Amino acid sequence: MAKPYFRRITVEDAGRLAALRNADDTWEWFFSKRRFTEGETARWIAGLDPEREEVYIAEGEGGIVGTCSLYRIDRSERRAEVGRIIVAVPFRRRGTGEVMLREMFGRGRSLGLDLLYANIMPENEASRRLFSKCGFREVGPGAEGGLRYECRLAGG
Ligand SMILES: CC(C)(COP(=O)(O)OP(=O)(O)OC[C@H]1O[C@@H](n2cnc3c(N)ncnc32)[C@H](O)[C@@H]1OP(=O)(O)O)[C@@H](O)C(=O)NCCC(=O)NCCS
Repeated sequence: MAKPYFRRITVEDAGRLAALRNADDTWEWFFSKRRFTEGETARWIAGLDPEREEVYIAEGEGGIVGTCSLYRIDRSERRAEVGRIIVAVPFRRRGTGEVMLREMFGRGRSLGLDLLYANIMPENEASRRLFSKCGFREVGPGAEGGLRYECRLAGG
């Protein structure tokens, strides 16, 4: 599929983000383990700290294909967490997740970061394989029973 266009999320996306996040085979892969209303989602977007959190919407020809983020951005430690990655169900297994992660590598490099990390549920085989395919390696236990994955960002 054609490469999606990436833009930062706005409060106007709240309904669309809630729909992505609340879908079956999606909401249960996040540690919050629940669905969110559009109002909660709008408040969450409005409260994002743009210095520390970059949440992206990926749009294709037919509309929104997914979302992904860099967060806990720490410029002095030159690292950030990558994730909150969702590909809309009809667009899965077409390479979209990989394109989104690689886009986050580029954003991380442009922020001068050296390391991206992620916390993935052990039973989330799709996500673990996606991150491994993109160069992350499992380094040990993460928060909340997750597995920590890390990837060094070489320049270029
Ligand atoms: C995980 C997720 C983002 C993958 O998105 P995607 O667009 O389907 O991924 P891609 O098509 O780029 O797949 C890349 C690789 O990931 C792995 N993968 C993706 N989906 C998989 C699945 N259902 N089962 C096993 N491996 C899978 C494969 O290795 C795949 O490479 P391949 O197609 O050459 O075998 C998507 O399944 C999703 O949105 N899941 C729900 C939300 C979620 O779990 N987010 C991550 C929270 S940590």
